[in-house]
Amino acid sequence: MADIVLPDQTNGFGTMFGGDVMAMLDKAAAIAALRFCRQPVVTASSERIDFRTPIGQGEIIEAYSRVIYVGRTSMVVRVRLYAEHPLRGERRVCTTGYLSMVAVGRDGARPTPVPELLLVDDEARAEHAVGAEIAQAIAARKGA
Ligand SMILES: CC(C)(COP(=O)(O)OP(=O)(O)OC[C@H]1O[C@@H](n2cnc3c(N)ncnc32)[C@H](O)[C@@H]1OP(=O)(O)O)[C@@H](O)C(=O)NCCC(=O)NCCS
Repeated sequence: MADIVLPDQTNGFGTMFGGDVMAMLDKAAAIAALRFCRQPVVTASSERIDFRTPIGQGEIIEAYSRVIYVGRTSMVVRVRLYAEHPLRGERRVCTTGYLSMVAVGRDGARPTPVPELLLVDDEARAEHAVGAEIAQAIAARKGA
């Protein structure tokens, strides 16, 4: 997902409003989850989101999302947000977030199984391990 930061997306300091950044992460996560399972999904939770560097007005932002772990009906999606200077083309990672999405079936009524995740390379296997840790943390929270 790509966008350009307009004045109405900024705070009083001319940098992008955090709530809009989170909305972009959520949308990008939803797109990855929808493409993966091809059924309606909802956001169940998000892990820690670190805003590493501010994003300036007029910068190009790009979100890359990937399903990194699946349970029975849930998916952990990693979203990485890059900012790019529009004239110089310099690019940096601004924010990374992990969101849990749950497939809820065509009627949107109840959690529904998702396909198996194929781990195609070392990067996918490494990210899968991160996703598994997140799923464990979620299960621990639910039990608390
Ligand atoms: C997410 C939701 C569908 C889960 O429903 P539920 O009845 O608690 O479902 P279950 O307990 O059967 O769990 C189903 C799956 O959701 C996962 N899940 C439930 N709560 C979760 C949470 N807070 N965070 C991450 N995953 C969660 C479970 O781990 C389980 O995953 P698995 O099937 O891969 O093992 C339900 O809580 C919901 O609809 N929440 C509101 C979502 C929403 O409105 N989001 C914002 C707008 S999109």
